[in-house]
Parts: sequence; structure tokens; C-alpha cells
Amino acid sequence: MQEIKRGSFVERDKNGPERVFKNIVILTGAGISAESGVATFRDNDGLWENHKIEDVATPEAFARDPVLVQSFYNARRAHLHTVKPNAAHKALARLQKELPGDVTIVTQNVDDLHERGGADAVMHMHGELVKVRCRACATVHDWIIDCTAESKCPTCERLGTLRPHIVWFGELPFHMEEIAEKLQACDLFISVGTSGNVYPAAGFVSNVQETGKAHTIEVNLEPSEGASLFAERRQGKAGELLPNLVQELLNMG
Ligand code: OAD
Repeated sequence: MQEIKRGSFVERDKNGPERVFKNIVILTGAGISAESGVATFRDNDGLWENHKIEDVATPEAFARDPVLVQSFYNARRAHLHTVKPNAAHKALARLQKELPGDVTIVTQNVDDLHERGGADAVMHMHGELVKVRCRACATVHDWIIDCTAESKCPTCERLGTLRPHIVWFGELPFHMEEIAEKLQACDLFISVGTSGNVYPAAGFVSNVQETGKAHTIEVNLEPSEGASLFAERRQGKAGELLPNLVQELLNMG
């Protein structure tokens, strides 16, 4: 494990006035759930659980083969019952509870491990496996069982209109306005376990840099595509690094 520190707030503490962060935004990606046993997207030859992303994560794929796409997400949803939040999810939940300030968790992940790790107010910009949406009446429903062509929308009672509440490629991510406001206001932006390949999330660090008032930290197993944009980088496993980072932030407050 290697730790790269450039302009770290820890160093700044030693040499200058202490900086206490009050508005923190944390962006998470698949890497934060890797230690829980959820597969990442780009660590398996470009395949996601043996499927090409374009075969299961586009509106065209759903139109072409709804049974394949539903069964793919049914399997991912069922897999959630077999995994547990890890030390990284729990550390972020602790930060949200104990920091006397605003801690926003924005995740690209569709699992529910942040919530089960104790976090609240998680913004799922790419949707949630534990929800489905009706294509007829647009209602979103909590959903923990399989969803098939025989599933009925609890609101409009039509058959076969439910789809995974997942943002597929070509669709607009959720919560973007609220996320933009949080990024504008933040004094610390932390990115955890994301490869920086998918926009708009990959552009958040630049959005924050443009405000000129926030420190930025990347926590990742390996440098991401946008690693050089971060003021500070901590390289290693999120489950090992985040509990310490959270403790440092709480000690400052
Ligand atoms: P990726 O699979 O692209 O990247 C995961 C990142 O996590 C990589 O940079 C790994 O090095 C890192 N990583 C792996 N294990 C780690 C660990 N234990 N601790 C810390 N880092 C670790 O996943 P995302 O960046 O989240 O979108 O992918 C972004 C989006 O692309 C996904 O939300 C999904 C996908 O296509 C949609 O489905 C719309």
C-alpha cells in the first residue's frame, strides 16, 4: 500500500492555521463495495458479471431483450442479500453522524450498502437496485424480489410495465441539480473507489476545483483517470483507508 500526499490537510495543519471542514461531499464508486464482494465494472476485462455493459445497461438492450435485462438485475438484486457493508461504508456513515457539518454522500453505486452501513440521505445518481419504476405511470416502488413481465405495478396495476430503477447509458443521472449545489458549496470533496471513466461523475473534481475553495482527496486502489486533478491522493483499499481518514476529519472538528 502506498500513500501519496500532496498539499494534504494534515500537512497544512502542522504548518498553518487549522482548517475545519464543514461541507463535505463524498463521491463513491464500485471500489467502495469491492471489499464487500460486489463486482466492480472495469476490473474484469470490461465485463460486468460476464456481460458486456451495452448488453444489459442501455435502453436499447432493454427494448431488444427485456427478459435478459430483467434477469440480470434480478440476479444483482438477489446478490445484495448475500453481501454486507464494509468498514468503508461504516466509516462514511460515522462521519455523517458525528461531524458537526454537512456530509453528503453521492454514489454511482446501485447497491444499498451505504444505507445498510448506517448512512442516511444518500444520493444514488445511477439509481438503485432495490427500486423499480413503472414505465406507464412513472411511480417508483421499493422492490426486493424478482421483477418480470408478470410483475404488476402496485400503483396503476398494469402488467409488465416495471423496469429497474437504474440509470442506463444514454439516460440522465438522478439528483444532478442538488449535487451541483452541494459541489458549489463544499469545502472538501472526497472521491472513493471510482475509475473516473463515466461522466458527469468524473467531472465533479473539476467542478469543485473551479470554485477555488475546496480541498480534494482521492481514495482509490490505483490512480484513477482524473487522479492528477486531486490535491491529495491516498492509494489503497477503501476499507483500510477510510476509517483513518474519517478519524482525522473528526479529530479536526
Ligand atoms: P469502476 O469499476 O470503473 O472502477 C472501480 C475503481 O475502484 C477502480 O479504479 C479500482 O481501482 C477501484 N477499487 C477497486 N477495489 C477497491 C478498493 N477495495 N478500495 C478502493 N478502490 C478500489 O467503477 P465506477 O467508477 O464506479 O454506471 O464506474 C462508474 C460507472 O460505470 C458505474 O456507476 C456504472 C458503470 O458503467 C452505470 O451503470 C450507469
